Amino acid sequence: MHVMTDMKTSMPSESAPSTLTSNVELDKQAPPLFGHAMHKLFEFDPSYVNLNHGSYGSLPIPVRVACDKLSTHIEANPDKFMRIECIHHWIEARTRVAKLIGADTDECVLVNNTLHGLNTILRNFEWHEGDVIIETTTTYNAVSRAINYLGDIPPYPQVSTFNLQFPTTHADILENWREHIRRVTSETSGLQQTRKVVAVVDAIAANPGVRLPWKEMVAICRDAGVWSVVDAAHSIGQEVDINLSEAKPDFWVSTCHKWLFAKRSCAVLYVPKRNQHVIKSCIPTPRNYCSPRDKDYNGPQSFVNLFERTGTIDYAPFLSVNAALDFRQWLGGEHKINEYTHNLAIAGGKYLASLLGTSVMDPDGDLTLNMVNVELPIPDDIKYSNEINTLLINTLLTEWNVYAVHYYHNGKWWTRCSVQIWNEISDFEVLANAFKDACQKVVKFAK
Ligand SMILES: Cc1ncc(COP(=O)(O)O)c(C=O)c1O
Repeated sequence: MHVMTDMKTSMPSESAPSTLTSNVELDKQAPPLFGHAMHKLFEFDPSYVNLNHGSYGSLPIPVRVACDKLSTHIEANPDKFMRIECIHHWIEARTRVAKLIGADTDECVLVNNTLHGLNTILRNFEWHEGDVIIETTTTYNAVSRAINYLGDIPPYPQVSTFNLQFPTTHADILENWREHIRRVTSETSGLQQTRKVVAVVDAIAANPGVRLPWKEMVAICRDAGVWSVVDAAHSIGQEVDINLSEAKPDFWVSTCHKWLFAKRSCAVLYVPKRNQHVIKSCIPTPRNYCSPRDKDYNGPQSFVNLFERTGTIDYAPFLSVNAALDFRQWLGGEHKINEYTHNLAIAGGKYLASLLGTSVMDPDGDLTLNMVNVELPIPDDIKYSNEINTLLINTLLTEWNVYAVHYYHNGKWWTRCSVQIWNEISDFEVLANAFKDACQKVVKFAK
């Protein structure tokens, strides 16, 4: 059997040319300027105005070319790639991503997406009656469903929902979070030692697209003996200077095919060494799983080995992290990229609000990174319905060929615009015209 136990920290070897997963040719030319000139590095329909990178990500051409080259190489000799070469690229990808987030290589593995990572964590906890899982009212829908599913099956851990309504401030969130954690832990403190409280915390919520004070929320959890599971789907590539060794979440997962520009589907699951015993199996259970009932069982299987081969998958998305990081370096690095996108998000949000005659959710920009939330001109008494949702999507995408997410929150309709390196302020004008039309249609429909 091909077990790579001793290779987890070895570096790529001669037999695995890293040019296959990276973009060394980029060095030969300077990148275009940020803004519409960047369109030449993406493959969008030229008439599409994309203000929604945040949902599914967008693949730069150099990263796609690196993936295509890798796929051609894999197909030339699948056995050689899977049995000899893959591990080296995989280690390189994990090493580079770990460096970016201030973690050790062997604390980071790659999974298909953030939902996969969060489900892996939550389903590996050994739940007992009376345990509590804390979510928030802005927890991503499918994550909340996963939490509720666990609450629906034995031993039925309780689900506690922390109320988060925007607009608000980090100071208010932290005060209320501290109180919520205090209340939940005081309710469980008389119970047996095995009872646990697990809090799922967003680093950057989806809708509204706002930055939360997640490091402080994690610290409050730690002080109260509560496990912190951070849904950082939108963090890597958007939030700069992440240092997980300092922030010390118990678990953290981020999607690499969103803001980092990797190929769909790729996410990084971070589990610090102190918590790796919790993850007994990845999903699906792999060949490297070690059962305590096996006669040669020798303690818990190493975390990294579990995730090395989890069924046959296409490794191109995982390994595209290498090309994505080269691409980002070529553009000028994390700070330069995010300075442009953040500044445009702030300016574009204000501009859109002025064109729509509404306001931005976060006028001081304290909660805004590259996603900006602007109120839509739909009266408050028109509530969310599937029909209105479809009407907005169809009008924006089919009639105007522009898109930014819309959602209903705290009694109002909002849009979340994701700003990327190809956007310019004029894109907000196109979006404003589309939303004016779409919102008028909604009002007419609701009458
Ligand atoms: C906050 C949040 N969590 C989780 C997810 C799911 O991410 P993925 O599609 O990578 O599973 C998303 C997707 O947009 C999200 O916004």
